[in-house]
Amino acid sequence: MEVDRRVFLATLGVGALEVMTPEDKAEALEHYMMDELDEPAAPAKPEVSDSREQDGPRAPRGTGRLFMPREGLYEPMPDKPTLVDFYNLRFAPARHVLQSASHALKTDQPEKTVMACLLHDVVLNLIKVDHGWWGAQLVEPYVAERVSWGIRYHAPLRFYPDESVGYEYPEMYNRMFGEDYVPPDYIEQAYKYARAHSWYMDARLITLNDKYAFDPDAEVSIEPFIDIIGRNFKQPKEGLGYDNSPSAHMWRTIANPDRPL
Ligand SMILES: [Fe+2]
Ligand SMILES: [Fe+2]
Repeated sequence: MEVDRRVFLATLGVGALEVMTPEDKAEALEHYMMDELDEPAAPAKPEVSDSREQDGPRAPRGTGRLFMPREGLYEPMPDKPTLVDFYNLRFAPARHVLQSASHALKTDQPEKTVMACLLHDVVLNLIKVDHGWWGAQLVEPYVAERVSWGIRYHAPLRFYPDESVGYEYPEMYNRMFGEDYVPPDYIEQAYKYARAHSWYMDARLITLNDKYAFDPDAEVSIEPFIDIIGRNFKQPKEGLGYDNSPSAHMWRTIANPDRPL
């Protein structure tokens, strides 16, 4: 994906860069690319100028996509929603996660990696801050432990190279901000922990497939993944959100963004 530096920086607002941490910048860039992929017209694109208009109230950058201003109400979910219902009714078009899982599938990666890729960023619909941790927690009751482990640590691993698998330092960050990414301490700690863990590659493969998942022209759908979901995601019979699991409330919130309480 081609990212126009001026347009991207304009979406951050006047003066934002000076107060953003390196992690904020990294997240802002990734979320911008993902929003562009799903709804090219959606992100705010103010004229590049010094206009004070850009300084008005805005949603915090960590706000999930489902909670951004929009026209109308969300379509109701079925009474006992499945994971596939969430893809169709709440995450769609979900191009980034579908493209990353497609790449894993095409390159014969383990099925658990395909599943992890399919799920790795869906939590961005709910919340963007610390998305690896939120994302892992969201799916933890329903997937193999190393799937949620990989999702948790893909976030801190993104900005660390691993030449052994051909994962280079993301040059896009440097091109956009004119500087190298300097991770905060907690990200560095999480990286070191994951790097030394026997499941390291589960998280690393997610970051690798991510690189192939920003193609504005690739057509993708959930259909090729239905059987994989069936084998790797423990769909609760009560419906996701109603099974009293530790993350059921998160699924209910995704299902019902319009509820006032
Ligand atoms: Fe991610
Ligand atoms: Fe991603």
